[in-house]
Amino acid sequence: MCGIVGYIGVQQAYPILIKGLHRLEYRGYDSAGVSMINEEGTLSVFKEKGKVAALEASVEGKDISGTIGIAHTRWATHGEPNAKNAHPHYSQSKNLSLVHNGIIENYKTLRTKLEEKGFEFQSDTDTEVLVQLIEYQEEKDNCDLYTAVQRSLKIVEGAYAIAVLDKRNPDVLIAARKSSPLIIGVGQNNHENNGQAEFFLGSDATPIIEYTNQVVYLKDEEIAYMDRDGHLRITNLANVEQTPDMQTLQMNLDELEKGGFPHFMLKEIYEQPNALRNCIRGRLSIEEKDIKLSGIIDYREKFLSARRIIICACGTSWHSALIGKYFIEEAAQIPVEVEYASEFRYRNPVITANDIVIAVSQSGETADTLAAIQLAKEKGAFIYGICNVIGSSIARATDTGTYLHVGPEIGVASTKAFTGQVTALFMLGLAIAKEKRTLSDDMFHMLIDELLMIPDKMQWTLEHNKDVEKFSQIFTYAKNFIYLGRGYNYPVALEGALKLKEISYIHAEGYPAAEMKHGPIALIDEEMPVVVIAPKKGMYDKVVSNIQEIKSRKGKIISVVTEGDTTVRDMSDYCFEIPDTRDCYVPLLAAIPLQLMSYYVAVAKGRNVDQPRNLAKSVTVE
Ligand code: M6R
Repeated sequence: MCGIVGYIGVQQAYPILIKGLHRLEYRGYDSAGVSMINEEGTLSVFKEKGKVAALEASVEGKDISGTIGIAHTRWATHGEPNAKNAHPHYSQSKNLSLVHNGIIENYKTLRTKLEEKGFEFQSDTDTEVLVQLIEYQEEKDNCDLYTAVQRSLKIVEGAYAIAVLDKRNPDVLIAARKSSPLIIGVGQNNHENNGQAEFFLGSDATPIIEYTNQVVYLKDEEIAYMDRDGHLRITNLANVEQTPDMQTLQMNLDELEKGGFPHFMLKEIYEQPNALRNCIRGRLSIEEKDIKLSGIIDYREKFLSARRIIICACGTSWHSALIGKYFIEEAAQIPVEVEYASEFRYRNPVITANDIVIAVSQSGETADTLAAIQLAKEKGAFIYGICNVIGSSIARATDTGTYLHVGPEIGVASTKAFTGQVTALFMLGLAIAKEKRTLSDDMFHMLIDELLMIPDKMQWTLEHNKDVEKFSQIFTYAKNFIYLGRGYNYPVALEGALKLKEISYIHAEGYPAAEMKHGPIALIDEEMPVVVIAPKKGMYDKVVSNIQEIKSRKGKIISVVTEGDTTVRDMSDYCFEIPDTRDCYVPLLAAIPLQLMSYYVAVAKGRNVDQPRNLAKSVTVE
């Protein structure tokens, strides 16, 4: 969690840092801070509780000049969210300032040792230990900052992405990472900066893309030295020189803006038809009625001999994984297990070389998912990644995989990444089924044809459910919601409930509809809204009976039905329609009205939809 920005060059650092922090606010937003070195060599630190806007207001009238600086937006782990615990942190002498994303696990021991040596701490954070330790190493070993950082990082345990300023050396920026992401943007020498070098730092590429598309993804346990003369030196903790692997970013700045929508979440909900077109482009072919996934083609034998597949994920990605399980088992006849990455990593799971472990993660940075695949790798499994963020830690830790290509997702509540993940898992299932010949040609072609039609059907769903805004206002009174679905729509019920609770703060639970009678039905009364995904497919008659059971206990029914279905419509208090599609693809359409309903309930309740309380977009801590 937390976002880091850094800059060294000829431009004023502050505007670059602030803009970068706004782009990274999805990673945490309980406090923010900046640190710059001005022309006179003063190292300033400004920090404030709350969002980046609060920081901006607090620096008004202060000297924020300087062409080198670091900045941070925080999601608290150690120490409550306040200005004292916000980053950057000074070292004792105030010669150094440092920002950090991650957790230093042995910070208590280190803090005690440093306190014994006379260091006084100003905050309750694990991070302050780092900057004090670096200063201590510098003094003890009489070494330069780079070496002090290197030696300190050998002592600390845990995860870190850091950037450090030293007021005695205003021409140098130092950065390092382990298990938390950090990207270096290498400025393009041009007229605007008189041909002088500049470097940018970001927890992801969004603070960088406006200035350069040339980037280096720092690897675990690497330390980078950047200076105004354009030197970029990278070593590992053992001081072995590493060759920077320069890459060209494929990202469009327009994709990061709201494009006229009031919130990123709404924009991302409406982007889904196009996002899915991009996801399937070049992979599904309408002419050849075929699928080509390079990750499967290149590792065909692995998939043919796979004993089972284990999918590890968290949150929304876990829900898409569950839909993936149902489909892969049905289409490709391989047993699939779906694991919460946070549980899997701390068990002693039985994994063999014939297992394929799939990590599903929008951000590609979720610490638990990354740790789960590292464990699986150690045990010899083949690792496949389904990620959205290109070049992310999980994407790079896997043997191969499939990117979603749904574009950057900024809203904390996942929407287009969910439908993108489900689509990627469908494509994976189809590609394996093709190699294993587990589907008849007719069925295979029908499934491809229908998947190709989903983006248009999503468009229809968005256009035909405009009154969801009006319906949603009615339910702001509710303290609880229940979501029900069966088969492929059980994970949709789970996802609908998660979407509602994370942005509206209304308690919601998803259940397989038939489980109601085993306990949860006791919750039903005239106050309880029950959302039922009831397409005219598979277990339709059984779901109709489940609706009857709720109605007879006076629950309020909100249903998602197949276009033209009057039976469930007549039983419902409110009803959303989706076009007819194959049973397995219903989740891609049913998710849309549920996303819209969560969005409008949250807006009506005055919630901060894009940045809900206590949450962050990517959870890079345990
Ligand atoms: O980036 P990831 O897909 O690995 O993130 C996993 C979860 O943290 C994420 O899906 C979370 O549940 C979202 N806030 C859901 O909207």
